[in-house]
Amino acid sequence: MPERPMQQPHLADSIDVVEEALSEVVLSRIPSTSPFHQPRQLTEAERERFRKMSRDSREARRSALAGEGPAPLHEINRPNFNPIDLMPQRQAEGKTALSLFSGGGGLDLGVERAGFEHSASFEIMSEAGDTLRKARSNWNVFSGEDGDVRKVDFRKWRGDIDLLHGGPPCQPFSNAGRQRGHLDERDMWPQFVRAVKEIRPAAFIGENVPALASPKFSQYVSENIIAPLAGSYHIQQVTLQASEFGVPQVRKRVFFVGFRLKRMANAWVQPAPTHYWGEPSLNGAEQRCMGLREALGLPGLGFDDLSPTIRSSLTGPRHTTSILNSVAAQRKFESLQVWPNGVAADRPSARAFVAKNGHFRLSVPDVALIQGFPEDWPFVGATYMALGQIGNAVPPPLAYAVASSVMDVLEK
Ligand SMILES: C[S@@+](CC[C@H](N)C(=O)[O-])C[C@H]1O[C@@H](n2cnc3c(N)ncnc32)[C@H](O)[C@@H]1O
Repeated sequence: MPERPMQQPHLADSIDVVEEALSEVVLSRIPSTSPFHQPRQLTEAERERFRKMSRDSREARRSALAGEGPAPLHEINRPNFNPIDLMPQRQAEGKTALSLFSGGGGLDLGVERAGFEHSASFEIMSEAGDTLRKARSNWNVFSGEDGDVRKVDFRKWRGDIDLLHGGPPCQPFSNAGRQRGHLDERDMWPQFVRAVKEIRPAAFIGENVPALASPKFSQYVSENIIAPLAGSYHIQQVTLQASEFGVPQVRKRVFFVGFRLKRMANAWVQPAPTHYWGEPSLNGAEQRCMGLREALGLPGLGFDDLSPTIRSSLTGPRHTTSILNSVAAQRKFESLQVWPNGVAADRPSARAFVAKNGHFRLSVPDVALIQGFPEDWPFVGATYMALGQIGNAVPPPLAYAVASSVMDVLEK
């Protein structure tokens, strides 16, 4: 059976409709180690509909990979973008870091390249923990139950850590979620604050979705992040755009950067953009950021653009292998002739599984690149799980820029 035909974008009026029409479904009964997964209550008829979509999609992929589908239309791409080029390794001067909510390691990789050595990383999802161990066998990774930040007494690291960093789950604040803030049981900022108080690092970096910097959450931020730490830390907040640090994607993130010493806080300078998209004069950067097609090494169309913000496949009522975030994103991918649904595990599979509209099908290594990971970062787990780790991450070059700015101060 062929893949479901693409809906006309104008018919889709919400993210849910887009998802339903386009994403590949993993049934909600499949057990998940993701703390974000909120299985939807389905009627039998709905469940059967999803099952059929899933079966059809699996069958389309199977026959394509068996060589029974339409002949491939695209060559295997050879990317031009190598995120490691954006993160020259700084030499560790014995500066240590401890990572909370580490996920697949976006923030951790940037922090490492900025010269910090990780003393420990904590992540509740076992697959993400396995990714970190596979990527760095020398890291001290706690995952699954042992990685649950809520259960850790951090006082044993007191005084030993220069930089504590972490991106508590963004779902309580994300525009894509219900924005229940502290009413959402997944709100882990209190745990981040507790870890800072117990460890007393010289500096910390807390990261989240830009919605947390919006007026809607200003009271939340001042009461739950700033006030509890104000007595012992000097905290500054900055929102940064990933494409201004060379990542070919529109993706903003907010960072809270705290220093124990006032002199250090005063010396800290937020990272200046290194790249521009569009007019160079607007942000003062000298290097042009690659567009999505150029980054992935796809043939020119006469124009290019940044990738829309990619989503995490682990959020929402079911797991998907789509990275679509919105109807606008769907339009953007269409104009770039890139197919963002049914992402394949690897490039040969993506080539063999021809998208219904003939557009270029993405693979996990392509999505990793769009998020600023080296394409061989060893994400563990099924495709939706790898995409979830990627979609949750801070683009490593953006993490590198922030961690480097902190290292500049700590080194002085
Ligand atoms: C936004 S993601 C972090 C992404 C990561 N900073 C990166 O750049 O790749 C948040 C992570 O927190 C993890 N998490 C949620 N609750 C947790 C808990 N109680 N203890 C440890 N990790 C948790 C999630 O599994 C998820 O991987």
